[in-house]
Amino acid sequence: MSLSDFRLHDTVSADQKPATPKPLRRLHVITWGCQMNVYDSGKMADVLAPLGYGPADGPADADMVILNTCHIRERATEKVFSELGRLRVIKEQRAAEGHETILAVAGCVAQAEGAEITARAPFVDIVLGPQTYHRLPEMVARAHRAAGPVIETDFPVEQKFDFLPDAPPTADQAVTAFLTVQEGCDKFCSFCVVPYTRGAEASRPAAAVLSEARRLVARGAREITLLGQNVNAYHGAGPDGRDWGLGRLIRALAELPDLLRIRYMTSHPRDMDDDLIAAHAEVPALMPFLHLPVQSGSDRVLAAMNRRHTADQYRHLVDRLRRARPDLALSSDFIAGHPGETPADFAATMQLIRDIGFAQAYSFKYSARPGTPAAGAPGMVPEAEKDRRLADLQALIRAQQDAFNDRSVGLEMPVLVTGPGRRSGQIAGRSPYLQAVHMDGSATLVGKIVPVKIRQSLTNSLSATLIFPAFEQERASA
Ligand code: 5AD
Ligand code: SF4
Repeated sequence: MSLSDFRLHDTVSADQKPATPKPLRRLHVITWGCQMNVYDSGKMADVLAPLGYGPADGPADADMVILNTCHIRERATEKVFSELGRLRVIKEQRAAEGHETILAVAGCVAQAEGAEITARAPFVDIVLGPQTYHRLPEMVARAHRAAGPVIETDFPVEQKFDFLPDAPPTADQAVTAFLTVQEGCDKFCSFCVVPYTRGAEASRPAAAVLSEARRLVARGAREITLLGQNVNAYHGAGPDGRDWGLGRLIRALAELPDLLRIRYMTSHPRDMDDDLIAAHAEVPALMPFLHLPVQSGSDRVLAAMNRRHTADQYRHLVDRLRRARPDLALSSDFIAGHPGETPADFAATMQLIRDIGFAQAYSFKYSARPGTPAAGAPGMVPEAEKDRRLADLQALIRAQQDAFNDRSVGLEMPVLVTGPGRRSGQIAGRSPYLQAVHMDGSATLVGKIVPVKIRQSLTNSLSATLIFPAFEQERASA
Protein backbone atom coordinates (compact mmCIF):
# COMPACT_ATOMS: atom_id res chain seq x y z
CA MET A 1 0.00 0.00 0.00
CA SER A 2 1.47 3.34 -0.96
CA LEU A 3 1.43 6.27 1.41
CA SER A 4 -1.25 7.98 -0.56
CA ASP A 5 -3.36 4.83 -0.60
CA PHE A 6 -3.63 4.93 3.13
CA ARG A 7 -6.31 7.47 3.46
CA LEU A 8 -8.75 7.83 0.64
CA HIS A 9 -9.66 4.70 -1.22
CA ASP A 10 -11.20 4.58 -4.60
CA THR A 11 -12.76 1.20 -5.00
CA VAL A 12 -11.92 -1.25 -2.28
CA SER A 13 -13.88 -4.40 -1.72
CA ALA A 14 -14.67 -5.10 1.92
CA ASP A 15 -12.03 -7.30 3.40
CA GLN A 16 -13.75 -10.57 2.85
CA LYS A 17 -11.68 -13.68 2.65
CA PRO A 18 -13.21 -16.84 1.19
CA ALA A 19 -15.10 -18.47 4.02
CA THR A 20 -15.80 -22.11 4.58
CA PRO A 21 -18.35 -23.57 4.42
CA LYS A 22 -19.92 -22.11 1.28
CA PRO A 23 -22.20 -19.20 2.25
CA LEU A 24 -25.94 -19.51 1.86
CA ARG A 25 -26.09 -16.11 0.22
CA ARG A 26 -23.39 -13.97 -1.30
CA LEU A 27 -22.57 -10.37 -0.50
CA HIS A 28 -20.43 -7.90 -2.44
CA VAL A 29 -19.49 -4.59 -0.85
CA ILE A 30 -18.02 -1.72 -2.87
CA THR A 31 -16.35 0.88 -0.67
CA TRP A 32 -15.48 4.44 -1.60
CA GLY A 33 -14.02 7.16 0.58
CA CYS A 34 -12.29 7.20 3.92
CA GLN A 35 -11.12 4.53 6.38
CA MET A 36 -14.33 5.02 8.31
CA ASN A 37 -16.17 3.61 5.30
CA VAL A 38 -13.74 0.68 5.06
CA TYR A 39 -14.46 -0.06 8.72
CA ASP A 40 -18.21 0.37 8.22
CA SER A 41 -18.21 -1.97 5.21
CA GLY A 42 -16.62 -4.65 7.39
CA LYS A 43 -19.28 -4.08 10.04
CA MET A 44 -22.08 -4.35 7.48
CA ALA A 45 -20.64 -7.68 6.32
CA ASP A 46 -20.47 -8.81 9.97
CA VAL A 47 -24.04 -7.81 10.71
CA LEU A 48 -25.27 -9.77 7.68
CA ALA A 49 -23.23 -12.91 8.43
CA PRO A 50 -25.88 -14.40 10.76
CA LEU A 51 -28.36 -14.18 7.85
CA GLY A 52 -26.08 -16.49 5.89
CA TYR A 53 -24.30 -13.86 3.83
CA GLY A 54 -20.72 -14.64 2.93
CA PRO A 55 -18.37 -13.06 0.41
CA ALA A 56 -19.13 -13.05 -3.33
CA ASP A 57 -16.44 -12.97 -6.01
CA GLY A 58 -17.97 -9.86 -7.54
CA PRO A 59 -21.33 -8.18 -8.16
CA ALA A 60 -22.32 -10.71 -10.83
CA ASP A 61 -22.55 -13.59 -8.37
CA ALA A 62 -23.85 -11.56 -5.42
CA ASP A 63 -27.32 -11.91 -3.92
CA MET A 64 -26.77 -8.54 -2.32
CA VAL A 65 -24.58 -5.63 -3.38
CA ILE A 66 -23.85 -2.71 -1.07
CA LEU A 67 -22.39 0.47 -2.52
CA ASN A 68 -20.82 2.36 0.40
CA THR A 69 -20.46 5.93 -0.81
CA CYS A 70 -18.51 9.10 -0.05
CA HIS A 71 -19.87 12.64 -0.36
CA ILE A 72 -16.84 14.67 0.53
CA ARG A 73 -15.97 16.10 -2.86
CA GLU A 74 -17.62 16.98 -6.12
CA ARG A 75 -19.33 14.66 -8.55
CA ALA A 76 -19.97 12.25 -5.67
CA THR A 77 -23.63 11.88 -6.56
CA GLU A 78 -22.99 11.52 -10.30
CA LYS A 79 -20.37 8.88 -9.60
CA VAL A 80 -22.93 6.96 -7.55
CA PHE A 81 -25.52 7.10 -10.34
CA SER A 82 -23.05 5.92 -12.93
CA GLU A 83 -22.04 2.97 -10.72
CA LEU A 84 -25.72 2.23 -10.07
CA GLY A 85 -26.29 2.14 -13.84
CA ARG A 86 -23.66 -0.59 -14.09
CA LEU A 87 -25.14 -2.51 -11.15
CA ARG A 88 -28.64 -2.24 -12.62
CA VAL A 89 -27.50 -4.12 -15.74
CA ILE A 90 -26.06 -6.88 -13.54
CA LYS A 91 -29.23 -7.00 -11.46
CA GLU A 92 -31.37 -7.36 -14.62
CA GLN A 93 -29.12 -10.05 -16.04
CA ARG A 94 -29.36 -12.00 -12.80
CA ALA A 95 -33.14 -11.53 -12.72
CA ALA A 96 -33.36 -13.01 -16.24
CA GLU A 97 -31.52 -16.05 -14.85
CA GLY A 98 -34.01 -16.27 -11.99
CA HIS A 99 -31.84 -14.75 -9.23
CA GLU A 100 -32.90 -11.92 -6.97
CA THR A 101 -30.33 -9.21 -6.16
CA ILE A 102 -30.77 -6.77 -3.31
CA LEU A 103 -29.08 -3.49 -4.12
CA ALA A 104 -28.26 -1.18 -1.20
CA VAL A 105 -26.71 2.28 -1.19
CA ALA A 106 -24.99 3.18 2.07
CA GLY A 107 -22.68 5.93 3.31
CA CYS A 108 -22.75 9.69 3.09
CA VAL A 109 -24.33 10.07 -0.37
CA ALA A 110 -27.18 7.84 0.83
CA GLN A 111 -27.53 10.08 3.88
CA ALA A 112 -27.49 13.33 1.92
CA GLU A 113 -29.27 12.32 -1.27
CA GLY A 114 -31.58 9.48 -0.19
CA ALA A 115 -34.67 10.94 -1.87
CA GLU A 116 -32.84 11.62 -5.13
CA ILE A 117 -31.49 8.07 -5.21
CA THR A 118 -34.90 6.46 -4.84
CA ALA A 119 -36.39 8.85 -7.39
CA ARG A 120 -33.69 8.44 -10.02
CA ALA A 121 -32.80 4.81 -9.34
CA PRO A 122 -36.02 3.03 -8.33
CA PHE A 123 -34.28 -0.35 -8.79
CA VAL A 124 -32.32 0.36 -5.58
CA ASP A 125 -33.85 -1.69 -2.75
CA ILE A 126 -32.29 -0.12 0.34
CA VAL A 127 -30.92 3.34 1.10
CA LEU A 128 -29.25 3.56 4.48
CA GLY A 129 -27.31 6.28 6.26
CA PRO A 130 -24.14 5.64 8.30
CA GLN A 131 -25.98 5.68 11.62
CA THR A 132 -28.33 2.83 10.74
CA TYR A 133 -26.07 -0.07 9.75
CA HIS A 134 -27.08 -2.12 12.77
CA ARG A 135 -30.63 -2.20 11.35
CA LEU A 136 -29.51 -3.74 8.07
CA PRO A 137 -30.84 -7.30 8.72
CA GLU A 138 -34.30 -5.89 9.39
CA MET A 139 -34.06 -3.74 6.25
CA VAL A 140 -33.08 -6.79 4.18
CA ALA A 141 -36.13 -8.65 5.50
CA ARG A 142 -38.32 -5.67 4.65
CA ALA A 143 -36.75 -5.36 1.19
CA HIS A 144 -37.81 -8.94 0.38
CA ARG A 145 -41.40 -8.05 1.20
CA ALA A 146 -41.61 -4.44 0.09
CA ALA A 147 -42.79 -3.19 -3.26
CA GLY A 148 -40.75 0.01 -3.02
CA PRO A 149 -37.35 0.89 -1.58
CA VAL A 150 -36.54 0.76 2.13
CA ILE A 151 -35.03 4.04 3.34
CA GLU A 152 -33.28 4.57 6.67
CA THR A 153 -31.45 7.85 6.94
CA ASP A 154 -32.51 9.02 10.40
CA PHE A 155 -30.08 9.55 13.20
CA PRO A 156 -31.58 6.95 15.55
CA VAL A 157 -31.57 7.54 19.29
CA GLU A 158 -29.82 4.25 19.97
CA GLN A 159 -26.07 4.06 19.41
CA LYS A 160 -25.40 1.77 16.49
CA PHE A 161 -22.23 0.51 18.17
CA ASP A 162 -24.30 -1.09 20.91
CA PHE A 163 -25.96 -3.24 18.27
CA LEU A 164 -23.15 -4.03 15.84
CA PRO A 165 -21.60 -7.44 16.33
CA ASP A 166 -17.94 -8.29 16.26
CA ALA A 167 -16.49 -9.96 13.25
CA PRO A 168 -17.33 -13.66 13.35
CA PRO A 169 -14.60 -15.50 15.27
CA THR A 170 -13.41 -17.27 12.14
CA ALA A 171 -12.74 -14.03 10.27
CA ASP A 172 -9.17 -13.70 9.16
CA GLN A 173 -7.65 -10.71 10.86
CA ALA A 174 -5.10 -8.49 9.21
CA VAL A 175 -2.02 -7.32 11.06
CA THR A 176 -3.25 -3.75 10.84
CA ALA A 177 -6.81 -2.87 11.79
CA PHE A 178 -9.08 0.12 12.07
CA LEU A 179 -11.20 0.79 15.11
CA THR A 180 -13.80 3.55 15.14
CA VAL A 181 -13.83 5.35 18.48
CA GLN A 182 -15.64 8.53 17.55
CA GLU A 183 -18.00 9.63 14.84
CA GLY A 184 -19.46 12.85 13.59
CA CYS A 185 -18.29 16.41 13.76
CA ASP A 186 -19.40 19.63 15.44
CA LYS A 187 -16.80 21.86 13.81
CA PHE A 188 -18.77 23.02 10.77
CA CYS A 189 -15.88 24.01 8.56
CA SER A 190 -17.32 26.20 5.81
CA PHE A 191 -16.65 23.72 3.01
CA CYS A 192 -17.46 20.38 4.60
CA VAL A 193 -20.52 18.09 4.44
CA VAL A 194 -19.45 15.79 7.28
CA PRO A 195 -21.39 17.52 10.10
CA TYR A 196 -24.52 17.10 7.99
CA THR A 197 -23.95 13.53 6.78
CA ARG A 198 -22.39 11.99 9.87
CA GLY A 199 -24.14 14.08 12.50
CA ALA A 200 -22.93 15.42 15.84
CA GLU A 201 -19.75 14.26 17.58
CA ALA A 202 -20.28 11.08 19.56
CA SER A 203 -17.69 8.93 21.32
CA ARG A 204 -17.86 5.26 22.21
CA PRO A 205 -17.33 4.32 25.86
CA ALA A 206 -13.69 3.47 26.59
CA ALA A 207 -14.59 -0.03 27.80
CA ALA A 208 -16.24 -0.83 24.45
CA VAL A 209 -13.17 0.42 22.57
CA LEU A 210 -10.82 -1.58 24.81
CA SER A 211 -12.77 -4.79 24.41
CA GLU A 212 -12.95 -4.41 20.64
CA ALA A 213 -9.19 -3.75 20.61
CA ARG A 214 -8.58 -6.88 22.73
CA ARG A 215 -10.56 -8.97 20.29
CA LEU A 216 -8.73 -7.50 17.29
CA VAL A 217 -5.39 -8.26 18.92
CA ALA A 218 -6.51 -11.79 19.83
CA ARG A 219 -7.16 -12.33 16.14
CA GLY A 220 -3.76 -11.11 15.05
CA ALA A 221 -3.90 -7.30 14.83
CA ARG A 222 -0.61 -5.74 15.92
CA GLU A 223 -1.29 -2.16 14.83
CA ILE A 224 -4.58 -0.38 15.42
CA THR A 225 -5.55 2.94 13.88
CA LEU A 226 -8.21 4.67 15.93
CA LEU A 227 -10.68 6.32 13.62
CA GLY A 228 -12.97 9.28 13.96
CA GLN A 229 -14.02 12.20 11.79
CA ASN A 230 -12.64 14.25 14.64
CA VAL A 231 -10.82 11.55 16.52
CA ASN A 232 -8.94 13.80 18.92
CA ALA A 233 -12.24 15.30 20.06
CA TYR A 234 -12.81 11.85 21.61
CA HIS A 235 -14.50 12.14 25.00
CA GLY A 236 -15.81 8.76 26.01
CA ALA A 237 -17.13 7.52 29.31
CA GLY A 238 -14.24 5.84 31.13
CA PRO A 239 -14.63 2.66 33.19
CA ASP A 240 -13.75 4.80 36.22
CA GLY A 241 -16.84 6.93 35.65
CA ARG A 242 -14.72 9.83 34.39
CA ASP A 243 -14.64 11.35 30.96
CA TRP A 244 -11.63 10.02 29.01
CA GLY A 245 -9.87 12.03 26.34
CA LEU A 246 -7.95 10.41 23.50
CA GLY A 247 -4.62 10.58 25.39
CA ARG A 248 -6.09 8.59 28.27
CA LEU A 249 -7.60 6.06 25.88
CA ILE A 250 -4.29 5.62 24.06
CA ARG A 251 -2.46 5.03 27.35
CA ALA A 252 -4.96 2.30 28.27
CA LEU A 253 -4.69 0.68 24.83
CA ALA A 254 -0.89 0.73 25.06
CA GLU A 255 -1.15 -1.62 28.02
CA LEU A 256 -2.67 -4.40 25.92
CA PRO A 257 -0.03 -7.08 25.48
CA ASP A 258 0.71 -7.72 21.79
CA LEU A 259 -0.71 -4.42 20.61
CA LEU A 260 2.56 -3.08 19.24
CA ARG A 261 1.50 0.09 17.47
CA ILE A 262 -1.22 2.70 17.82
CA ARG A 263 -2.19 5.48 15.42
CA TYR A 264 -5.16 7.80 15.17
CA MET A 265 -6.81 9.88 12.49
CA THR A 266 -8.23 12.42 11.59
CA SER A 267 -7.50 15.21 14.05
CA HIS A 268 -8.41 18.87 14.34
CA PRO A 269 -5.71 21.25 15.61
CA ARG A 270 -8.14 22.75 18.15
CA ASP A 271 -8.58 19.41 19.91
CA MET A 272 -4.90 18.63 20.39
CA ASP A 273 -4.90 18.84 24.19
CA ASP A 274 -1.95 18.71 26.62
CA ASP A 275 -2.54 15.11 27.61
CA LEU A 276 -2.58 13.92 24.01
CA ILE A 277 0.63 15.84 23.26
CA ALA A 278 2.20 14.30 26.38
CA ALA A 279 1.10 10.85 25.19
CA HIS A 280 3.29 11.37 22.12
CA ALA A 281 6.26 11.78 24.46
CA GLU A 282 5.36 9.03 26.89
CA VAL A 283 3.74 6.17 24.97
CA PRO A 284 6.28 4.29 22.83
CA ALA A 285 3.54 2.37 21.00
CA LEU A 286 2.06 5.63 19.75
CA MET A 287 3.67 6.01 16.34
CA PRO A 288 5.57 9.20 15.47
CA PHE A 289 3.36 10.05 12.54
CA LEU A 290 0.42 12.39 12.77
CA HIS A 291 -2.21 13.40 10.26
CA LEU A 292 -3.13 16.92 11.37
CA PRO A 293 -5.00 18.79 8.64
CA VAL A 294 -4.48 22.54 8.44
CA GLN A 295 -6.28 23.17 5.10
CA SER A 296 -4.70 26.61 4.52
CA GLY A 297 -1.79 28.75 5.71
CA SER A 298 -3.64 32.06 5.44
CA ASP A 299 -5.33 33.51 8.50
CA ARG A 300 -7.97 35.16 6.32
CA VAL A 301 -8.87 31.88 4.65
CA LEU A 302 -8.68 29.94 7.92
CA ALA A 303 -11.20 32.39 9.37
CA ALA A 304 -13.42 32.09 6.30
CA MET A 305 -13.18 28.31 6.66
CA ASN A 306 -14.31 28.58 10.29
CA ARG A 307 -11.26 26.61 11.39
CA ARG A 308 -10.96 28.73 14.55
CA HIS A 309 -7.17 28.85 14.66
CA THR A 310 -4.45 30.84 12.91
CA ALA A 311 -1.49 29.64 10.87
CA ASP A 312 0.88 30.60 13.70
CA GLN A 313 -1.17 28.67 16.22
CA TYR A 314 -0.73 25.63 13.98
CA ARG A 315 3.04 26.26 13.75
CA HIS A 316 3.22 26.59 17.52
CA LEU A 317 1.24 23.37 17.99
CA VAL A 318 3.60 21.51 15.68
CA ASP A 319 6.56 22.89 17.67
CA ARG A 320 5.05 21.54 20.87
CA LEU A 321 4.39 18.15 19.29
CA ARG A 322 7.94 18.00 17.96
CA ARG A 323 9.33 18.89 21.36
CA ALA A 324 7.31 15.98 22.78
CA ARG A 325 8.35 13.59 20.00
CA PRO A 326 11.34 14.94 18.06
CA ASP A 327 11.09 12.39 15.23
CA LEU A 328 7.39 13.14 14.62
CA ALA A 329 6.49 13.22 10.92
CA LEU A 330 3.45 15.14 9.81
CA SER A 331 0.78 14.87 7.19
CA SER A 332 -2.03 17.29 6.37
CA ASP A 333 -4.97 18.05 4.11
CA PHE A 334 -5.02 21.21 2.00
CA ILE A 335 -7.71 22.87 -0.04
CA ALA A 336 -6.68 25.05 -2.98
CA GLY A 337 -9.07 27.77 -4.08
CA HIS A 338 -11.51 28.13 -1.18
CA PRO A 339 -13.87 31.05 -1.94
CA GLY A 340 -12.07 34.32 -1.31
CA GLU A 341 -8.56 32.81 -1.52
CA THR A 342 -6.26 35.38 -3.19
CA PRO A 343 -2.80 34.71 -4.66
CA ALA A 344 -1.35 36.17 -1.44
CA ASP A 345 -3.41 33.76 0.67
CA PHE A 346 -2.22 30.87 -1.45
CA ALA A 347 1.38 32.06 -1.07
CA ALA A 348 0.86 31.96 2.70
CA THR A 349 -0.20 28.30 2.39
CA MET A 350 2.95 27.51 0.39
CA GLN A 351 5.02 29.27 3.05
CA LEU A 352 3.40 27.26 5.83
CA ILE A 353 4.19 24.04 3.95
CA ARG A 354 7.84 25.13 3.63
CA ASP A 355 7.97 26.07 7.32
CA ILE A 356 6.55 22.80 8.61
CA GLY A 357 7.95 20.25 6.16
CA PHE A 358 5.44 17.44 5.63
CA ALA A 359 6.17 13.76 5.11
CA GLN A 360 3.09 13.60 2.93
CA ALA A 361 -0.20 15.43 2.41
CA TYR A 362 -3.51 15.21 0.63
CA SER A 363 -4.61 18.19 -1.38
CA PHE A 364 -7.84 18.98 -3.10
CA LYS A 365 -9.31 21.62 -5.32
CA TYR A 366 -12.12 23.36 -3.52
CA SER A 367 -15.46 22.01 -4.67
CA ALA A 368 -18.75 23.58 -3.62
CA ARG A 369 -20.82 21.11 -1.63
CA PRO A 370 -24.54 21.92 -1.67
CA GLY A 371 -25.84 23.06 1.69
CA THR A 372 -22.46 24.13 3.10
CA PRO A 373 -21.80 27.81 3.94
CA ALA A 374 -18.87 28.17 1.52
CA ALA A 375 -21.02 27.02 -1.41
CA GLY A 376 -22.77 30.38 -1.48
CA ALA A 377 -19.79 32.51 -0.44
CA PRO A 378 -18.45 35.32 -2.63
CA GLY A 379 -15.06 35.22 -4.32
CA MET A 380 -15.25 31.94 -6.23
CA VAL A 381 -11.82 31.16 -7.65
CA PRO A 382 -11.87 30.28 -11.39
CA GLU A 383 -11.29 26.58 -12.14
CA ALA A 384 -8.11 27.19 -14.12
CA GLU A 385 -6.63 29.16 -11.24
CA LYS A 386 -7.59 26.43 -8.77
CA ASP A 387 -5.88 23.91 -11.06
CA ARG A 388 -2.70 26.01 -11.15
CA ARG A 389 -2.60 26.43 -7.38
CA LEU A 390 -3.27 22.74 -6.77
CA ALA A 391 -0.49 21.75 -9.17
CA ASP A 392 1.99 24.10 -7.42
CA LEU A 393 0.99 22.82 -4.02
CA GLN A 394 1.24 19.20 -5.06
CA ALA A 395 4.68 19.74 -6.59
CA LEU A 396 5.91 21.20 -3.30
CA ILE A 397 4.38 18.39 -1.25
CA ARG A 398 5.78 15.78 -3.63
CA ALA A 399 9.26 17.30 -3.25
CA GLN A 400 8.91 17.23 0.54
CA GLN A 401 7.65 13.65 0.49
CA ASP A 402 10.53 12.56 -1.75
CA ALA A 403 13.02 14.37 0.50
CA PHE A 404 11.52 12.72 3.56
CA ASN A 405 11.78 9.27 1.97
CA ASP A 406 15.30 9.98 0.68
CA ARG A 407 16.39 10.89 4.21
CA SER A 408 15.27 7.43 5.33
CA VAL A 409 17.90 5.77 3.12
CA GLY A 410 20.72 4.37 5.27
CA LEU A 411 18.64 4.54 8.46
CA GLU A 412 17.76 1.56 10.57
CA MET A 413 14.14 1.35 11.61
CA PRO A 414 11.63 -1.09 13.07
CA VAL A 415 9.19 -2.30 10.44
CA LEU A 416 5.94 -4.08 11.21
CA VAL A 417 5.66 -6.92 8.69
CA THR A 418 2.10 -6.92 7.34
CA GLY A 419 2.18 -9.59 4.63
CA PRO A 420 3.94 -11.10 1.67
CA GLY A 421 5.58 -8.75 -0.83
CA ARG A 422 4.85 -8.61 -4.53
CA ARG A 423 7.65 -10.99 -5.54
CA SER A 424 8.12 -14.41 -4.02
CA GLY A 425 10.56 -14.39 -1.13
CA GLN A 426 9.61 -10.79 -0.37
CA ILE A 427 7.72 -9.42 2.60
CA ALA A 428 6.05 -6.03 3.00
CA GLY A 429 5.48 -3.85 6.00
CA ARG A 430 5.16 -0.37 7.43
CA SER A 431 7.71 1.95 8.93
CA PRO A 432 6.80 3.97 12.05
CA TYR A 433 6.17 6.87 9.64
CA LEU A 434 3.64 4.87 7.62
CA GLN A 435 6.01 4.37 4.72
CA ALA A 436 5.47 1.17 2.76
CA VAL A 437 8.62 -0.96 3.04
CA HIS A 438 9.48 -4.17 1.23
CA MET A 439 12.40 -6.53 1.72
CA ASP A 440 13.48 -10.12 1.25
CA GLY A 441 12.40 -12.26 4.16
CA SER A 442 10.35 -15.15 5.40
CA ALA A 443 6.55 -15.03 5.63
CA THR A 444 6.91 -16.34 9.19
CA LEU A 445 7.79 -12.77 10.15
CA VAL A 446 4.28 -11.48 9.36
CA GLY A 447 2.89 -9.77 12.46
CA LYS A 448 6.35 -9.11 13.92
CA ILE A 449 8.37 -5.94 14.18
CA VAL A 450 11.77 -6.42 12.60
CA PRO A 451 14.76 -4.07 12.47
CA VAL A 452 15.68 -3.23 8.89
CA LYS A 453 18.11 -1.00 7.07
CA ILE A 454 16.55 1.19 4.39
CA ARG A 455 18.45 0.76 1.12
CA GLN A 456 16.49 2.69 -1.48
CA SER A 457 13.69 5.17 -1.81
CA LEU A 458 11.26 4.42 -4.66
CA THR A 459 8.24 6.42 -5.81
CA ASN A 460 5.79 5.20 -3.20
CA SER A 461 7.77 2.77 -1.10
CA LEU A 462 11.14 2.00 0.43
CA SER A 463 13.21 -1.10 -0.13
CA ALA A 464 15.13 -2.48 2.81
CA THR A 465 17.14 -5.41 4.09
CA LEU A 466 16.67 -7.27 7.35
CA ILE A 467 19.43 -6.44 9.77
CA PHE A 468 19.86 -9.95 11.15
CA PRO A 469 20.35 -13.07 9.05
CA ALA A 470 17.04 -14.86 8.57
CA PHE A 471 17.18 -17.49 11.23
CA GLU A 472 18.52 -15.16 13.91
CA GLN A 473 15.80 -12.76 12.89
CA GLU A 474 13.13 -15.31 13.60
CA ARG A 475 14.63 -16.08 16.99
CA ALA A 476 14.99 -12.41 17.87
CA SER A 477 11.38 -11.61 17.20
CA ALA A 478 9.77 -14.93 18.23
N1 5AD B 1 -13.70 20.72 -1.35
C1 5AD B 1 -12.43 20.28 -1.37
N2 5AD B 1 -11.90 19.52 -0.41
C2 5AD B 1 -12.68 19.18 0.62
N3 5AD B 1 -12.44 18.45 1.72
C3 5AD B 1 -13.57 18.40 2.46
N4 5AD B 1 -14.55 19.10 1.86
C4 5AD B 1 -14.02 19.60 0.72
C5 5AD B 1 -14.53 20.41 -0.33
N5 5AD B 1 -15.77 20.87 -0.31
C6 5AD B 1 -11.14 17.90 2.04
C7 5AD B 1 -10.57 18.53 3.32
C8 5AD B 1 -10.73 17.43 4.33
C9 5AD B 1 -10.57 16.20 3.46
C10 5AD B 1 -11.08 14.92 4.04
O1 5AD B 1 -11.28 16.51 2.28
O2 5AD B 1 -9.21 18.83 3.09
O3 5AD B 1 -9.79 17.50 5.37
FE1 SF4 C 1 -15.28 18.50 8.06
FE2 SF4 C 1 -14.05 20.41 9.48
FE3 SF4 C 1 -15.38 18.44 10.72
FE4 SF4 C 1 -13.07 17.90 9.46
S1 SF4 C 1 -13.32 19.26 11.24
S2 SF4 C 1 -14.98 16.70 9.36
S3 SF4 C 1 -13.17 19.28 7.71
S4 SF4 C 1 -16.26 20.02 9.42
